[in-house]
Amino acid sequence: MYILGIETSCDDTAAALVTQRGGRFVVERSCVSSQIDIHKIYGGVVPEIAGRKHADSIIPVIREALGNTRPDAIAVTAGPGLVTSLVVGVEAARALSYAWGGVPIVRTNHIEGHIYSTLLGETAPTEIAFPAMALIVSGGHTELILMRGHGDYTLIGRTRDDAVGECFDKAAKVMGLEYPGGPKISKLALEGKRDAIAFPRPMKTSDDFDFSFAGLKTSVLYYLRDNPTANHADVCASFEQAVTDVLVAKTVRAAQEYNTASVILSGGVSANRYLREGLRAALVRELPECAVLIPELQYTTDNAAMIAAAGWFHAQNKDYTQWSAITADPAWELVN
Ligand code: KG4
Ligand code: ZN
Repeated sequence: MYILGIETSCDDTAAALVTQRGGRFVVERSCVSSQIDIHKIYGGVVPEIAGRKHADSIIPVIREALGNTRPDAIAVTAGPGLVTSLVVGVEAARALSYAWGGVPIVRTNHIEGHIYSTLLGETAPTEIAFPAMALIVSGGHTELILMRGHGDYTLIGRTRDDAVGECFDKAAKVMGLEYPGGPKISKLALEGKRDAIAFPRPMKTSDDFDFSFAGLKTSVLYYLRDNPTANHADVCASFEQAVTDVLVAKTVRAAQEYNTASVILSGGVSANRYLREGLRAALVRELPECAVLIPELQYTTDNAAMIAAAGWFHAQNKDYTQWSAITADPAWELVN
């Protein structure tokens, strides 16, 4: 079976052709057309521009991903995301399904895609060991999700205000770094001292699994206002340390409490090397039996191969949506 993934939830137009061989995912082609150069002029994603750019790019990107293959199913991101962006992918999937005589569509959740990004690439495992504790960290989400099996999700904790990626992007903006700020902060942090500034570790020891990052973002803002000549590398390094401390502590505690066989780290912020290494090291130390699943760097940020992989498991159960019935849902939560 070949599955075409389509992803247009935010500012990347993506399509991918994925199959399985010998029980492991094979990404035949994964194509991403990024709009960052346009949105960075505005310091963030402008929904109307994103929608128009997706409309321009979607057909060439899908053609490139398909090559000469006619897929057996289409997995498309239907939410969560920007509605002006999502509809472009959903309408493309609808049109292709219709034109191809009813090729089945899997209506796929973007966050579920991030979870399954851990099964992509040559170094990836072939299966998730359940129960799994998934930490999803992206521009719009910060969630701890317990996964007891494919499609079986329970929300353990979430941010009460800003998402981690949003916090990275806003802190970067204050320092005059371009959107998206996460990668720029992590690069600058390499030259800074991680204990230079004692930023807060919000909710690190609270007895639930929720997060809060708005206060940390404000602390960076106030610190820079009060110390205009501050060394930005030190600010970045100390900020990254604070974020990592909170995320690692809570994820390890959640994995311990729910006695999970694996821990998953995914979403755009999982591209952060300090977080990847910090979580891996803490788990080796505290829970040596627990498997750690972190996507290859190329699959950390938004892509369509992860949507195809998540869709694969639904396709096995024939969990399809008719082309005439599919809709986008910008507020679709994987779990409530
Ligand atoms: O998953 P993603 O590509 O899009 C959403 O679904 O939101 O995540 C994008 C987020 C942005 O906030 C970006 O700054 C952040 O991921 N990000 C990083 C790094 N690379 C991307 N944050 C911290 N360190 C990085 N290396
Ligand atoms: Zn994402």
